[in-house]
Amino acid sequence: MSEILTKQNVHITQSLEAFAQFLNEKNYTKIAVIVDENTFQHCYPLVKPLLPTQHLLVEITSGEQHKTLETCSSIWLQMTDYQMDRKSLVINLGGGVIGDMGGFCATTYKRGMDFVQMPTTLLAQVDASVGGKLGIDFQQFKNHIGAFKIPTWVYIYTPFLQTLPARQLLSGFAEVIKHCLIADANKWYFLLQNEYLAFDWASIIQHSVEVKADVVENDPLEHGLRKILNFGHTIGHAIESFYLNDPKRALLHGEAIAIGMLCEAYLSEQKGFINAQELGTMVQYIQAMYPRLIIQANEITPIAQLTTQDKKNEGGQIKCTLLEQIGKANFNQPITLEEVEKALMWYQGL
Ligand SMILES: NC(=O)c1ccc[n+]([C@@H]2O[C@H](COP(=O)([O-])OP(=O)(O)OC[C@H]3O[C@@H](n4cnc5c(N)ncnc54)[C@H](O)[C@@H]3O)[C@@H](O)[C@H]2O)c1
Ligand SMILES: [Zn+2]
Repeated sequence: MSEILTKQNVHITQSLEAFAQFLNEKNYTKIAVIVDENTFQHCYPLVKPLLPTQHLLVEITSGEQHKTLETCSSIWLQMTDYQMDRKSLVINLGGGVIGDMGGFCATTYKRGMDFVQMPTTLLAQVDASVGGKLGIDFQQFKNHIGAFKIPTWVYIYTPFLQTLPARQLLSGFAEVIKHCLIADANKWYFLLQNEYLAFDWASIIQHSVEVKADVVENDPLEHGLRKILNFGHTIGHAIESFYLNDPKRALLHGEAIAIGMLCEAYLSEQKGFINAQELGTMVQYIQAMYPRLIIQANEITPIAQLTTQDKKNEGGQIKCTLLEQIGKANFNQPITLEEVEKALMWYQGL
């Protein structure tokens, strides 16, 4: 990755003025805005007045199932018909699906053009838009095709969250919890002591972005340290994948990660890293906020089996990020299939 992410190309703001200024200064030949039906309705009306009257609006259908090569083809086709060139700009106005896929389309179209991430979900504001990972799903494999590329700008306009459904907000909040647990114990205690509904989201987002940006600046291509961002994701992804095609029990990403964090914190406690009281506090907080998942006894083994597919494993060994203490994580921690099963059984019995 030639450019390194710096906090300068991430703007967190409650006004869109700087964005208008950015567009004026840059003088792009053409501008495309990618939206889905929800961000078209709720977010595009706020951004449209800042754009030149002539621009391309690309609307895709919302949902992870559309983060595919077919949707990319349609985006590339519309960009081609609109005669966009390498001095044009793509604005990704949406959640992580649009950010990942629109960024991928921009970075591969004519070998790359500028793109701005304008994340509109909490998950995208604190996680997906920061760090330069772009991509799409392929066959049944998530984020299988993609690239690393730092966006020209990440423009985090916090009022977009006002129209976000409560369930989506809570899903994104799991990544906020994660950032505190892996990097900032004080902020974790702050979360515990303050009312979720009364949060000053701009400052919560600022903190979360700083944690992620710090990690990414030190390890942009995920050779090591960046794996700490994977806390909760080894077991969380397995749970998410297992229930993906079950409409009644499918979980949002953050809902699965919240459970994954509990299971991986349990393993951290079992290995003598965090203590029982610290684990108990996490259990209490997360259980009070997130829906409880009923895992049937016969589902434990197949869920655990899915952790063997994790991208971060090495040489057939499950490698997990565990909490060394609250506010500090260790990556590449070997865990066994039996330990994963034990953790899931522990969660089931809570
Ligand atoms: N690149 C990365 O580092 C990274 C990190 C984490 C997740 N991701 C990816 O992010 C994706 C998930 O992102 P997501 O949770 O934002 O999902 P999403 O993009 O599907 O958005 C969730 C839902 O919220 C709607 N929505 C978005 N903004 C809205 C608003 N302001 N008001 C009302 N509705 C709104 C969307 O239309 C969608 O229905 C996954 O594909 C995941 O792989 C990427
Ligand atoms: Zn995540």
